[in-house]
Amino acid sequence: MSTLLSPYDTKVIAIDGPSASGKGTIAARIASILNRDYLDSGALYRLTALFAKQRKIDWANEEQIAQLAATLPVIFIGGKILLNDLDVTHTIRSEEVGLNASKIAAYPLVRAALLQRQRDFLTTKGLVADGRDMASVVFPNAELKIFLTASAQVRAKRRALQLDLAINGEEFKQILVDIEKRDAADRTRAVAPLQPVADAHILDTSSLNIDESVQKILDWYQIIKK
Ligand code: DC
Repeated sequence: MSTLLSPYDTKVIAIDGPSASGKGTIAARIASILNRDYLDSGALYRLTALFAKQRKIDWANEEQIAQLAATLPVIFIGGKILLNDLDVTHTIRSEEVGLNASKIAAYPLVRAALLQRQRDFLTTKGLVADGRDMASVVFPNAELKIFLTASAQVRAKRRALQLDLAINGEEFKQILVDIEKRDAADRTRAVAPLQPVADAHILDTSSLNIDESVQKILDWYQIIKK
């Protein structure tokens, strides 16, 4: 498979971090401010997991899942995600799909199948890309590399707030358990584990809101542009 880097592959801001770290919202906001395209790489892993489930593929069948990843019939249009012409924008955000995505993301063949697909999102317009391995694997020449962190407790609280749940009930506890499970899987897998590259700017968002986080990244961006 060809895995060419594009000639303008420095025009990328790579934002990596664990689940529920706010990276999607932050990355999309920065893309809009800088008038760049936005890549939500996690969506590709989620779509692959959903498609594999729909096709009733055995979770252990790495080759078949990679084949699906390579041929995903997906269209990103006007903020919506269509899989086989069906709107799955909300379906792919469930915890179940997230956990399955994390499982199949550990397969080297799946990661290889999605590599070029992710790089193809980069045009002369430039890109803000979020995920787990944007800086380490997909866009190693990115001009700015950000690694977001926040404690699992803080991230679970944010997710509970999004879902309008109390932060002391059973559902909250389950969210926390799921987040910790997914962190462990993403951090310890053999291929492209979630970890900051040496030249990443580490941003702990535990006590920052979205606006403050966006501003901090834009400040770093201004510094490298000087
Ligand atoms: O960012 P997210 O929660 O939508 O990602 C879903 C899963 O996909 C995540 O648990 C791990 C995997 N993933 C990955 O391995 N590499 C990426 N670049 C993005 C996501």
